[in-house]
Amino acid sequence: MNDKFIIKGLAGKKTLNGKIKVNGSKNAILPLMASCVLFKDGLKMKNIPNLEDVKRMSELLNFLGFQTHFKNDSFDIDMSKDIKSILPEDISKRMRASIIMIGPMLGRLKQVSFLHPGGCVIGARPIDIFIKGFQKMGATLSEKNGFYTLSAKNGLRGAEIFFNLQSVTATESFIMAAVLAKGKTVLKNCAMEPEIVDLVTFLKSCGAKIKGEGTPTIEIIGGKMLSSGKKVYKAIPDRIETGSFLLLGLLACDNLEITNCNPVDIESLTTPLLDAGFKFQIHKDKIVIKDNSKIQNSKLNTFNIKTHEHPGFPTDLQAPATVLLTQLKGEAHVHETIFEGRLNYTEDLVKMGANINMWDANRVTVKGPNSLRGKELWGPDIRAGLAFILAAIVAKGQSIINNVYYIDRGYERIEERLSSIGVDIKRVSD
Ligand code: EPU
Repeated sequence: MNDKFIIKGLAGKKTLNGKIKVNGSKNAILPLMASCVLFKDGLKMKNIPNLEDVKRMSELLNFLGFQTHFKNDSFDIDMSKDIKSILPEDISKRMRASIIMIGPMLGRLKQVSFLHPGGCVIGARPIDIFIKGFQKMGATLSEKNGFYTLSAKNGLRGAEIFFNLQSVTATESFIMAAVLAKGKTVLKNCAMEPEIVDLVTFLKSCGAKIKGEGTPTIEIIGGKMLSSGKKVYKAIPDRIETGSFLLLGLLACDNLEITNCNPVDIESLTTPLLDAGFKFQIHKDKIVIKDNSKIQNSKLNTFNIKTHEHPGFPTDLQAPATVLLTQLKGEAHVHETIFEGRLNYTEDLVKMGANINMWDANRVTVKGPNSLRGKELWGPDIRAGLAFILAAIVAKGQSIINNVYYIDRGYERIEERLSSIGVDIKRVSD
């Protein structure tokens, strides 16, 4: 729980070399796990990394009454007839993604009780969209001792719902609720992330009637439990891991091959990087960086970042990309539009020697290039934690990164994978 990483930096040199494989996508796997509530039979999944968030979700399913089995990269969920209708307090507090469960549980059990979910410290993260939408589908809300209960005595009914903003987990949760609701549901202003398309593709292969995934309007005809039969879900590659490794490659590698990825999912990152002058080759399922040490970062153009729902620049790549901006010549603006509080980590980059000015909670200016110095850091969330690893690798001297738990939530055994390409990184347990 209290592990830390000790990293010896490369002082700006690009000496790392090798191959790194991208794992299955955390944010695709979590909704897939939640979807087990919709099934008459069990679920079999593969390409599943051993992440803290996957373990928490599996504990949550076990608490509800399912039986989960994790072996190597396979994950099986056995069907349960008797499911509890309450989300456990401790897991909900630690993992925002637990909110996804509300839709499928309400659809199947006609009632669900839960606390306001927790997770990373990235803004207030309200759940108003969930509450309003389920009320439109016929649920009523009550609150007792801090627990909310949504109930729909006669079951959920199809409805037309316009989301005030695009939310990934809300889109997923409502799709799953609608699969069990009576009649037709039309969801408007949906999020369009590849993880949503992946979830729907699997649900459709198991009998769900859904159209429009990957567009803002999704239609679902509901009313029947699904059956997975002999189908095995294979998780899509994690696009955030892909982007993080690409940024690492450009910052600190001479040669790097990033395998098992889907580069088309991160065009919002690869396009500005290529425009800035970086050289790398994009293949169907890999990205190759060659002879990168010959390229001086100070000769490249810097670029602005404005985070946006997919297919725009992902908020989850904002922090690692900002580390790259500290090494490029010129002034870049970073505008975080999804979560307030997701730029606070830049204060630590400043302590390491970066020239970053914060204008307000959502906007900073980065002037570069600046050499970074090793420091002791506390990662506030998964992605800022990964950004600190990148900064520590680039920096001169030793860095200590605390709160490794957050990094373990999203990146499996990152220290082993980074060591294999030459990073001097050690995990130390308190
Ligand atoms: N929002 C509301 N009301 C709601 C729901 C959301 O105001 O009822 C707001 C949020 O506060 C935020 C915006 O809507 O400002 C969009 O948030 P969204 O709901 O899309 O985020 P999420 O579904 O909770 C998922 C990912 C996050 C990723 C965001 C944005 C999963 C499990 N989580 O979160 O991933 O940052 O979408 O792309 O899919 C991560 O992996 O590190 C991570 C935080």
